[in-house]
Amino acid sequence: MMPKVTIVGAGHVGATAASLLLMKDSADVVLVDIAENIAKGKALDLMQMRSNERFKSTICGSGDYADTAQSDIVVITAGVPRRPGMTREDLIGVNAAILQNVLTSALPASPDALYLIVTNPLDIMVNLAFELSGLPASRLMGMGGVLDSARFVHAIAQATEAEPQSIEAMVIGAHGQGMVPLVSRATVKGQPLANILVNPQEQIAAIVQATVDGGAAVVELLQTGSAFYAPASSIVVMIEALLDCRSDPLSVCARLEGEYGIDGVFLCVPTRLGPHGVEQIVEFDLAPNELGQLQRSAQAVKEQLDKCRLTLSL
Ligand code: APR
Repeated sequence: MMPKVTIVGAGHVGATAASLLLMKDSADVVLVDIAENIAKGKALDLMQMRSNERFKSTICGSGDYADTAQSDIVVITAGVPRRPGMTREDLIGVNAAILQNVLTSALPASPDALYLIVTNPLDIMVNLAFELSGLPASRLMGMGGVLDSARFVHAIAQATEAEPQSIEAMVIGAHGQGMVPLVSRATVKGQPLANILVNPQEQIAAIVQATVDGGAAVVELLQTGSAFYAPASSIVVMIEALLDCRSDPLSVCARLEGEYGIDGVFLCVPTRLGPHGVEQIVEFDLAPNELGQLQRSAQAVKEQLDKCRLTLSL
């Protein structure tokens, strides 16, 4: 039987993720939105594509969580995206209220599902979702690191003219300014990144900057919203890892309980995913500066979360 995936938020990210899941025949999808007819309209449009694209998966649009009952995976993309000049943190108040609202409706319908949070600011939203939902940490995770890693690979590909498929590179840490591109582990065709660059110091700094600014660069060009193709594709990579139990670790926003010397916070770290959700947090041997950056990133998320709890009176 096809797995059942609910996507809450039928906007740019949610609907694009739905279309990719259908085209790959990965799951039957329920697309939910507060704007019910948007969800229904996009689902109908996608169903009308079936004969052309020859996929068997189905999608239905809805404003009613009864239709999401017994989902295997619930993806939450509902929220407001960034506009030019905004940081992801500027979205906290409005998106926290939306997240709470969505969880209150989605959890009773699918109490055993795996929950994947996409709404920004990602790290804050996943940590809040943990407190609001009572879900075990293994069934709650966030999408940020897979996207940042894809942007890191793209920046390396641009700088080296190598095929993205020949590049291994991962970004961990917060999904924002505190992200940590793991330069020490990045390879191109199996060679350390620094060894194949003409001016390693200068070029690596530029690659890291392009990675950190990857999302903002899209926002600046679009003016009316934020990135959605690469985010949607990153959601699908995570869903496929959850369904197929991939053996290689992905950068997943998962709860740390002592790993990397960090405790009691969700942050993007190398993680093996499988049918039970977060199967294992993998402890890479990081360069000392990268470990320091990761720990500072964790501290920044904790401080922001404390501020956020005060503002939202949680
Ligand atoms: N319940 C369900 N859907 C909601 C709710 C709610 N309470 N509130 C808003 N939505 C829906 C909106 O109606 C809209 O269709 O969420 C959708 C968001 O879509 P877009 O505005 O197109 O935003 P998108 O680009 O998809 O980004 C969504 O993902 O990457 C992050 O930063 C991004 O937080 C943003 C989220």
